Amino acid sequence: MLEISRDGRTWLLTGPSSGYAVHVTGRDELVHLHWGPRIALADAEALAARPLPEVRGFESALDGHEEYPVEGGPRFVRPALSVRTEERRGTEWAFERYDAEDGELRLRFTDAGLAVTLHYRTRDDVIERWVTLENQGPPVEVLRADSATWTLPDRDGWRLSQLHGRWAAESRLVRSELTYGEKVIGSRRGHTGHQHLPWVALDTDATEERGEVYGCALGWSGSWRIAVAGLPDARVQITGGAGHDDSGLLRLATGESFTTPVFAGLWSDGGFGGASRAWHAYQRAYVVPDADRDRFVLFNSWEATEFDISEEQQQALAARAAAMGVELFVVDDGWFGARTSDRAGLGDWTPNPDRFPQGLKPLADHVHDLGMRFGIWVEPEMVNPDSDLYRAHPDWVQYQPGRKRTKFRNQLVLNLARDDVQEYLFGQLDALLSGAPIDYVKWDFNRSFTDAGWPGDPYPQRLWVDHVRAFYALVDRLRAAHPGVAFESCSGGGGRIDLGVLSRTDQVWTSDNTDPLDRLAIQHGFSQLHPARVMAAWVTDSPNVMLNGRVSSLRFRFVSAMAGVLGVGGDLTRWSAEELAEARDWVALYKEIRPLVQRGDLYRLRPPAGGLSAVQYVLGDETVVLAWLQAQHYGEPVPPLRLRGLEPAASYVCRETGEVHRGAVLLHHGLRPALRGDLDATVIRLRRI
Ligand code: GLA
Repeated sequence: MLEISRDGRTWLLTGPSSGYAVHVTGRDELVHLHWGPRIALADAEALAARPLPEVRGFESALDGHEEYPVEGGPRFVRPALSVRTEERRGTEWAFERYDAEDGELRLRFTDAGLAVTLHYRTRDDVIERWVTLENQGPPVEVLRADSATWTLPDRDGWRLSQLHGRWAAESRLVRSELTYGEKVIGSRRGHTGHQHLPWVALDTDATEERGEVYGCALGWSGSWRIAVAGLPDARVQITGGAGHDDSGLLRLATGESFTTPVFAGLWSDGGFGGASRAWHAYQRAYVVPDADRDRFVLFNSWEATEFDISEEQQQALAARAAAMGVELFVVDDGWFGARTSDRAGLGDWTPNPDRFPQGLKPLADHVHDLGMRFGIWVEPEMVNPDSDLYRAHPDWVQYQPGRKRTKFRNQLVLNLARDDVQEYLFGQLDALLSGAPIDYVKWDFNRSFTDAGWPGDPYPQRLWVDHVRAFYALVDRLRAAHPGVAFESCSGGGGRIDLGVLSRTDQVWTSDNTDPLDRLAIQHGFSQLHPARVMAAWVTDSPNVMLNGRVSSLRFRFVSAMAGVLGVGGDLTRWSAEELAEARDWVALYKEIRPLVQRGDLYRLRPPAGGLSAVQYVLGDETVVLAWLQAQHYGEPVPPLRLRGLEPAASYVCRETGEVHRGAVLLHHGLRPALRGDLDATVIRLRRI
């Protein structure tokens, strides 16, 4: 809901439990008034009538109070917007008008021929903010254009939560005190990166169940930056957007415009758990395509076969996967061009004639005959120098003239900002999807930008932004042309996970780390922001071949992976008859609890910290607990798990034991899971009676 003051200079956005207010002063300064619990318009007006706190000495009265601080004028905070023309730097804005349509508020300001519009849209308690720039004046260079600056109220003792990582160790949660100055996270890599998810949360005294939490998440899959500033007066401002520094984003010629990605913000007073549930609900309702449809149990061949694949061997895997109850069979890397190792073939998206003499159709048909859907792996934005594509078009890659072309994993990055590259890729992928009955595409991105040059282009810097837009456009175009095909975002595991890619893909590959114990921490971090509905998790072989040799039971591996979109990725030809039978039972159990996991409310009962950890999902009358014991010490029994989200006055029957429990008892005294030893795990289903 949007309310506007009579003078048309104060705006109040109201969500189910939150409120957000801004005001344009008589001097055309756009100041932030409120972000927190719901307030009345009269409260916002009272805040607008308060003068900005007096400042002395060298301080600026505007710093820490503006909705979108720019470069230019009496400001010393990090600018969200920085532009320059041949003549001058910075801007000086005059308020032009506001528009309010379909729940979206637009505030438009002008400076000579340049206009900036701040956009606000409420999605329940999430506020989506972005900015458009329109240039009718002389050409301008946009050095920086953040999507939004978020202002938090004066409080003591702010804490910052972030999700950091690296390859095979993504999205690990850390919480630290926010001191004065700036904490800057981001990616300088051309993709979202494994190092940080583009999300931060700020609180002063929240717990998992209680307290105020402010969160911000960016919807952009290229380089990005979020700066969290602890300002001198105990205020906090968070500014974020596309691009990793101020060295230049794009140029706007006369008549051109630019729209930033969305930087979404959420206030919650339900603690970290309440904030996560609100983020999950937002993504399921407004971001992820078809989120009301549950994702399939998949098999992926990568860890089983790596590059050594053949049609016969894939058929053998498919037969075992189908018998286990798998619903989608995905052939990973190695099916195309001369791709028998990572040294060759990327760029040539036609089936390898030695491996698939009749193309992919016979295998796809076979998989369909087994009752499963068929998927394939691609990495369209990349090329191996040893490929027909590179031999034909060595200038289609990002490179700096006269410099070495840096190879990572023996591959170079295609310059997707070029129209001819986009057309080539659409042609290849469209033909691929038309040539065989393919239902699913795992879209990978396995190296970061290093030599992001574009010889001959007057402003090569633009390829950082244009690559991402071209990637989005390509996926959108393929989705439109092949509406039945689902897409998975992968980048060496979790190197491209953000709200931007999630708005056009069906699920993401969380991490190349499939060790079921490491995964618990990765999943714990992931769940701070993203829902289980998009979090792919596979059961692979034990000992874990890819990473650490850890030995774990099939039970532990399954219960770990069942916390997301279940997949299987082991070499099934080497699983015993007993293991295959056990796996079939786990897959059947997952299908039963899948609606709760993928669409229910998530409660993190205990974080993974060495002993017992657990999550609970609640949907309607059903609830399920997944619990893991990393290590039991001194023979002590595991502590009881206090459940959440239940009716105290109701009774619940345990599907595992048949026991009936009272809601109040489960909520206040809990349930002790039957776990012992090391790496044990269990599933507890309860139904309200
Ligand atoms: C990346 C992915 C893996 C696999 C390989 C194939 O590393 O994250 O899952 O697809 O590429 O080369």
